[in-house]
Amino acid sequence: MSTHIVITDTNLGDGSIELEILRPAFEVSHHHVLTEDEVLEVGAEADGLMVQWAPLTERVLSGLPRLKAVVRYGIGMDNIDLDAARRLGITVRNVDDYCLAEVADHAVAAIYAHNRRLTAGSRSYVAKGWTTAGIALPLLPEEDPVGIAGFGRIGREVARRALALGFPVHVWDPFVGELPEGVVGHATPVELAAAVNHLTLHMPSNEQTRGVIDKAVLDALGPDGHLVNTARGALVDEESLLAALDQEKLAFATLDVLVEEPPTGVSAELANHPRVLVTPHTAYLSTRSLPSLQRRAAEIMRDLMAG
Ligand SMILES: NC(=O)c1ccc[n+]([C@@H]2O[C@H](COP(=O)([O-])OP(=O)(O)OC[C@H]3O[C@@H](n4cnc5c(N)ncnc54)[C@H](O)[C@@H]3O)[C@@H](O)[C@H]2O)c1
Repeated sequence: MSTHIVITDTNLGDGSIELEILRPAFEVSHHHVLTEDEVLEVGAEADGLMVQWAPLTERVLSGLPRLKAVVRYGIGMDNIDLDAARRLGITVRNVDDYCLAEVADHAVAAIYAHNRRLTAGSRSYVAKGWTTAGIALPLLPEEDPVGIAGFGRIGREVARRALALGFPVHVWDPFVGELPEGVVGHATPVELAAAVNHLTLHMPSNEQTRGVIDKAVLDALGPDGHLVNTARGALVDEESLLAALDQEKLAFATLDVLVEEPPTGVSAELANHPRVLVTPHTAYLSTRSLPSLQRRAAEIMRDLMAG
């Protein structure tokens, strides 16, 4: 019996890179489906699934009788029920290294842009014309500490860049012991937030991290604070973030990710807020990262199917 690989969804192109790697050995079909029912339909014969955003819930995973392996196009695996996959004996892999520099560049660009008040200046010009009135004076980088929550692969790249630009760097990560020279460690996210002006998030989204950036953390970040989220929307309690911005208890937020994407409800209020700079989950993008992601995802699937 031949082996079927089903690409449920990607926004990365026409699948030609994946087909070139997989077609010689496997039957491959390429779809653009995003609901559980659609995945159940297109994946009915799948031995392997390649998925970007489609929800691989327990219902989906247990409804695909031949499924042995899943490869996620990307780093985060929060659209896949990993516990259910483990119980069902389905192997799940991600592509964990294709955009580390891109996301770190994005987060540091956000920090540098806010340090120089780029968005505030631009919005002030549109609203009030050619005046500096009402634009907070930019701080020198050495006066403007950066906090990194989650000191993994991307967090470390952010630290390298921020230190090179002259920002003091502080970190909170309960699973990291020794820190590089020049980096100050903190025991809790509140302690980290109280020590910095910019707080940039680089943890995974899971049961422990959901809503970890709550009112207490935002209060500690304070009225001069800037929250940067290029990790996952679910890390942030969005109601508290919106209240903090509305009440001027937080200066600014740069958000590449939201709880609801595309944004609805509170996520949409944040995306349209005058003191938010939003990008539509673009931090991973570059001319290099996309072909690399497609190629790596296909190679991982090929190797899994080869045993
Ligand atoms: N916006 C984008 O386009 C984009 C692209 C790639 C990755 N991401 C996101 O970036 C984030 C970081 O990716 P990475 O490759 O650096 O991950 P990583 O696994 O290398 O690092 C994550 C770090 O978080 C820490 N951590 C784990 N659980 C924690 C907890 N409960 N509390 C605090 N810290 C905890 C770990 O110790 C680790 O050091 C992920 O959420 C990923 O989904 C976003």
